[in-house]
Amino acid sequence: MKHDKEKIYIFDTTLRDGEQSPGASMNHREKLELAHQLALLNVDIIEAGFPIASPGDFRAVKAIAESVKGPVIAGLARCIAKDIERCAEAVVPARKSRIHVFLATSEIHRKFKLNKARHEILKQAVTGVKYAKKFTRDVEFSPEDASRTERDFLAQVVKAVIDAGATTVNIPDTVGYSIPTEFGDLIAYLFDNVPNINKAIINVHCHNDLGLAVANSLAAIQNGARGVECTINGLGERAGNAALEEVVMAIKTRADLFTNVETGIKTERLYKVSRLVSQLTGMTVQRNKAIVGANAFAHEAGVHQDGMLKERRTYEIMKPQDIGMDGTELVLGKHSGRHAFRHQLSRLGLNLTQTELEEAYIRFKELADKKKNIYDDDLQMIARGDDSQNASVYVLDYLHVSTGTNAIPTATVRLKKGKEVLQSAAYGDGPIDAALKAIDKLSGVRGKLTDFSLQAITVGKDAMGEANVRVAFGPDMLSAKAASTDIVEASAKAYLSCVNRYLSTRKLAGKKIKHN
Ligand code: KIV
Ligand code: ZN
Repeated sequence: MKHDKEKIYIFDTTLRDGEQSPGASMNHREKLELAHQLALLNVDIIEAGFPIASPGDFRAVKAIAESVKGPVIAGLARCIAKDIERCAEAVVPARKSRIHVFLATSEIHRKFKLNKARHEILKQAVTGVKYAKKFTRDVEFSPEDASRTERDFLAQVVKAVIDAGATTVNIPDTVGYSIPTEFGDLIAYLFDNVPNINKAIINVHCHNDLGLAVANSLAAIQNGARGVECTINGLGERAGNAALEEVVMAIKTRADLFTNVETGIKTERLYKVSRLVSQLTGMTVQRNKAIVGANAFAHEAGVHQDGMLKERRTYEIMKPQDIGMDGTELVLGKHSGRHAFRHQLSRLGLNLTQTELEEAYIRFKELADKKKNIYDDDLQMIARGDDSQNASVYVLDYLHVSTGTNAIPTATVRLKKGKEVLQSAAYGDGPIDAALKAIDKLSGVRGKLTDFSLQAITVGKDAMGEANVRVAFGPDMLSAKAASTDIVEASAKAYLSCVNRYLSTRKLAGKKIKHN
C-alpha cells in the first residue's frame, strides 16, 4: 500500500520548558531516566535543557547527548555567542544534535525587554543562526512571542533565518494568547508570504494560558506546520505547554480529519511515561485529565455502563490499551528472584548496570519485606533509588514517632554522618513536624517548609507514599522527594535530602536564567 502520510515531528520539551514549571525540577539521574523513556516513546526530538542556564543543566544535556540514542538531542540557547557555544558543547556528542536559538520579535518584547529596533533583531537572529550552523547542521530558530509579532515583520524574520541556514523555524505562542482560528491563520499566512518556507520545517510551540495549547497546535498542523513542541502531562511555564499525549491521540483518533499526517509515537507507552513524569516532578495528574487521567476511561453513570457493556464505542473513542493503560502488569513479591526482577526492569525500559542492579535488588528485597505486592511503579522507585541516599551528608538511621488524639506528637531521630551517630528528640504540631524539628536540631540548619505534598504512588492499602517537599534555607530554595510505605519516614527523608543538598552545595553558584 502506498504510504503517503506526512510525518508530524514530535519535539518533546518536558526536560526544558516542562522543567521550568515551578516545583517541577528533576535531578540529573531523573532527567536521564526520562530522556531514555522519551526515546522509547519514539519522540523525534528531545529538548534536553538550556545549557547556559546552570552547570546542572549543562551536565544533564551533555549526558543525555552522550547516552540517549534515537531522537535528535536539542539544547536551547539565546541568540548570543556564549550561549550557543555552551549549547554546542553539550549537544554535539549526540549522534543527531540540534541547537535551538531564540530571540523575541514582538513589539512589546523589543521595546520593554530588549530595547532593540526591528533591524537589530533581524541582524541578531541571522548572526545567531549562522553562528550555530558552525557547530551543527541542524539549527532551529524561534521568534519568541511570534503570535504577538507584527505579521509582516515575522515573515521577514522567518525568511531571513531560513536563508541563514535554519532547518526548523518554530512559531511560539509564548504567552498562550492565540485562539485556534487565529493561530491556524497565522501559519497559513507564513506559508503564503515567506517565499523560502518550504526549505525548513515549521514547528509550533503553544502555551496553555487560555487552555488552548493543544487546539492551537492542531489548527497549526491543519495549516501546514509539521512539528509540534509539547510536553508530557502538559508541563511547562505558567499554565504549561501543549500536552504531548493529547496532541498525539487527537491526530490518531481523528485520522478521518488528519488524513495526510501521522506521528511516530508508540502510543501504548504514553500512560507509563505520564506516570513517570508525575512521579519525578511531583506534579500530580488531575483525575479528569484528558488521555492519562485516572478517570479518562472510567464510566460511572449507569446508562453509560449499560451502553459500554452493549458496545464499547457508545461511550469510548479510544481504548485504554491504546495508551498502555491495560492493567496487566506483572506483580513481583518477596519470593521473586533476580532474574524476574531484571526482566521486569528491562520491560519498563530500566536498563541498569550490574552494580546498579545489585543495589536496586537489595532495595527491592527490603521493600518486599514490608509490602506484599511490588508493582511497576514500585519498581521505578526502586530503580531510581532514594534521593536522600545520594551524596548524603546525613543518613536517616532510626525514626520513631509517638502520636495520637490528645497526645503530644514526639519524634526520636538518629542520623549517621560517616562514622558519627547523632540522636535527638523533638515535639511538634504533628509527627511530621516533630520529625523535621529533630532533624533541624541534629543538622544545625533550619529549613522553612514552603511546600509539602503527599501522594500514594502505588496501589493498595500498602501503597508507597511519596512526600514532595520544597524547603527554603534563607534565599536558597530546594525541592526533593522520597517514598516509603511510612509517610512520616518519606517526609523525613525528603526533608533530609534538602538539608544534605543545602549543606553540600551551598557554595556552588548557578542561578537559573528565567525565560519563557
Ligand atoms: O515559549 C517560548 O516562546 C519558548 C521559546 C524559547 C521557544 O519557550
Ligand atoms: Zn515555551
